[in-house]
Amino acid sequence: MRLSVIGCGYLGAVHAAAMASIGHEVVGIDVDERKVASLSKGEAPFFEPGLQEILTEGIASGRLSFTTDMSAAQGAKVHFIGVGTPQQPGGYAADLTYVHAAVDGLLPYLSEGDIVAGKSTVPVGTAESLAPRVSDRGATLVWNPEFLREGWAVQDTIDPDRLVAGVPSTDGGPTEEGARTAGVLREVYHPSIAKGTPFIVTDYATAELVKVSANAFLATKISFINAMAEIAEVTGADVTTLADAIGHDARIGRRFLGAGIGFGGGCLPKDIRAFSARAEELGRGESVAFLREIDAINLRRRDRAVDLTVQALGGSVFEKKVTVLGAAFKPHSDDIRDSPALDVAVRLHGLGADVTLTDPAAIENARRIHPQLTYVEDRDEALRDADAVIVVTEWDEYRRDLDPAHAAALTAGHIVVDGRNCLDAAAWRAAGWTYYGMGRP
Ligand code: UDX
Repeated sequence: MRLSVIGCGYLGAVHAAAMASIGHEVVGIDVDERKVASLSKGEAPFFEPGLQEILTEGIASGRLSFTTDMSAAQGAKVHFIGVGTPQQPGGYAADLTYVHAAVDGLLPYLSEGDIVAGKSTVPVGTAESLAPRVSDRGATLVWNPEFLREGWAVQDTIDPDRLVAGVPSTDGGPTEEGARTAGVLREVYHPSIAKGTPFIVTDYATAELVKVSANAFLATKISFINAMAEIAEVTGADVTTLADAIGHDARIGRRFLGAGIGFGGGCLPKDIRAFSARAEELGRGESVAFLREIDAINLRRRDRAVDLTVQALGGSVFEKKVTVLGAAFKPHSDDIRDSPALDVAVRLHGLGADVTLTDPAAIENARRIHPQLTYVEDRDEALRDADAVIVVTEWDEYRRDLDPAHAAALTAGHIVVDGRNCLDAAAWRAAGWTYYGMGRP
């Protein structure tokens, strides 16, 4: 099928390449000329495992192209909208400027019977308000939220754990047009649906809410365990053992119970805030008032990691050499948007520490935003002569591959703060380190 994808960021670029990889003919459209130039050459403009391969393949096959020219969308049957919905400056609500610009830019190129499929995360009610503009052109709007995780984006796009389509509906279910549209989306995603991926057809509001409520739930799970870490800290309990133990209950589950410096990235933080803002507009602020607490717990954990480092260094980090392992908001990504890792590094620098930061993928991005820090590509070089080491992104390079005895030989002091509870505490202690975890004795 011929498809267009408007917006070629972390979501859109992966979606375009993934759709080409399953046999569609895809044009990706973005206003950013540099991004389009790089994608057109088959070069991934950001780090995402597997993206490079499917980009190269797609371009070589002739099924995948990129342009800044919106008219290239003409002739596609389904037009995906994958632009960003950042937090508004000075407020909690989502900024829908890019969504409106994408839809308005696309309108002149729509043909009768086309489908516009919104993938961006938007406040509930957005699709309802956009739909008339699309139907005036004889096309249909569907909301098809994206659940991909960075670092696993290619796999999550080709093989998602569920697909959701919000289509024009009445109280009795999808309208005829809605049912037809859902049928076309089924064709788009045929390879994955044929493998048994659940395909849920619903109304606009439910589809939009599925996405924000999923992210709210995940954020809640992380802040729950981080709240338990705070209690563990005043009682001498170990939150990682606690998480293992409660995680054995299948109703709870161990995933997303990783206590540490908390969640960040381009989605969870801004999505829970936008959800609060939207609930307030709807007169239901109290229903998700707990999300404010989730946010507050999350941010406190960054303070805790900074405090632990200060305490570990005897009350001040001033002029102390602190090596920060990690900058990305999570491993397998170069994304530093709202990264707790980078935030901790910047705060330590603000307290006068001589911060050296390393990361396998995110140095370039971090340097652009925070040129005041010292960046070193090589992990061992970064560790040299450190008074303290703090792990803030649980890359395999630190979690699995860094031998504590080897690290001890490189550094001046033997203090390690494990901001992600990802190190083997016993092994580090045995190698002579004073180990500090998050919510661990
Ligand atoms: C998230 C959702 O998982 C995804 O479904 C949605 O489409 C977009 O938002 P992503 O932002 O890629 O995906 O990251 P995710 O894996 O959810 O991690 C978010 C943050 O939570 C990271 O900073 C991570 O380090 C942190 N985290 C995750 C924890 O602190 N503890 C955990 O147990 C899990």
